[in-house]
Amino acid sequence: MTGTPIGDDIVAGLEASPKWLPSKYFYDGRGSALFERITRLPEYYLTRAETAILESNAESVVARCRPEELVELGSGSSRKTRLLLEAMHRSGAGSRYVALDVSDDALRAAEEALLADYAWLEFAGVVGDFHTDLAAIPRRGPRLVAFLGSTIGNLDPAERATFFPQVRDALQRGDAFLLGLDLVKDVGVLEEAYDDAAGITAEFNRNILAVLNRELDADFPIDAFDHVAVFDKVSSWIEMRLRATRDMVVTLPPLDLRVTLLAGEEIRTEISCKFTREQIEAELVSAGLGVEGWMTDGEQRFAIALAMPVGP
Ligand code: SAH
Ligand code: TRP
Repeated sequence: MTGTPIGDDIVAGLEASPKWLPSKYFYDGRGSALFERITRLPEYYLTRAETAILESNAESVVARCRPEELVELGSGSSRKTRLLLEAMHRSGAGSRYVALDVSDDALRAAEEALLADYAWLEFAGVVGDFHTDLAAIPRRGPRLVAFLGSTIGNLDPAERATFFPQVRDALQRGDAFLLGLDLVKDVGVLEEAYDDAAGITAEFNRNILAVLNRELDADFPIDAFDHVAVFDKVSSWIEMRLRATRDMVVTLPPLDLRVTLLAGEEIRTEISCKFTREQIEAELVSAGLGVEGWMTDGEQRFAIALAMPVGP
């Protein structure tokens, strides 16, 4: 998994009320593999919708900004990215791909799969955090930054207000930012996407406890947690939680932490915000990014925004 030290954020989350855990700890090798299974679930329409949008629009996106390099944040398996890389290759634009992810397992698997198929690709994998590490990636020419998979939805409004200006700062005139967003829709459809019948999302959610048990020698009784996914209409986000089914005391020795959970108590593990065009345009514009393109799937479930820097 990642080389990032685990620690302070976990203490803060488990001592808070209500309790929460930082979602980046989902993605060890098993977590990344479970997420890949989520992307193929019948209920999880997001990946299919976003893929369809890229199939129809990758060519025109590349024609618009003619990137020398594609920088992808939270790249995961890089599977959808292939549509962009192939469009870059076909158009004779650049062939450099920088993939940034917290999961070195995911990066290694993506690198191997991509290089097996694309001999022309210049691949650079960066193990890092997209909240802090984008500025450290050197710009080698006209650049397309991609943030796909509705991962933006996993940032709360305050985090987005810090993140978008950092993206703006990583871009120059003529560069572009490609942002995949899940749109507000029927609550039943949203909640099922995060609570599938086969229980894969539940397994993914509980995996965060397995990561803490292994990395921090913690003793969460993983089977004693239920998966919960509810849409909060006011905040417009899906909230994923783990609900303790009995009273328990959990210890995390390296953090010198003892945590008491009562039966029914929940730990928040993830949010996934659902957007309207107006909402996200306003946020991008206030970060100095003008929306130059808005692409959706046929059913208007998902959108990809193409934004470009405006102003000086
Ligand atoms: N973009 C892919 C993967 C989405 S899942 C897709 O659309 O299918 C989210 C990805 O972001 C995972 O690969 C996870 O490891 C990564 N990730 C989560 N938090 C991160 C962070 N803070 N910094 C960098 N990568 C992160
Ligand atoms: N960003 C995606 C989403 O919000 C992927 C994701 C993150 C996810 N955590 C998840 C998907 C938990 C399912 C369950 O949908």
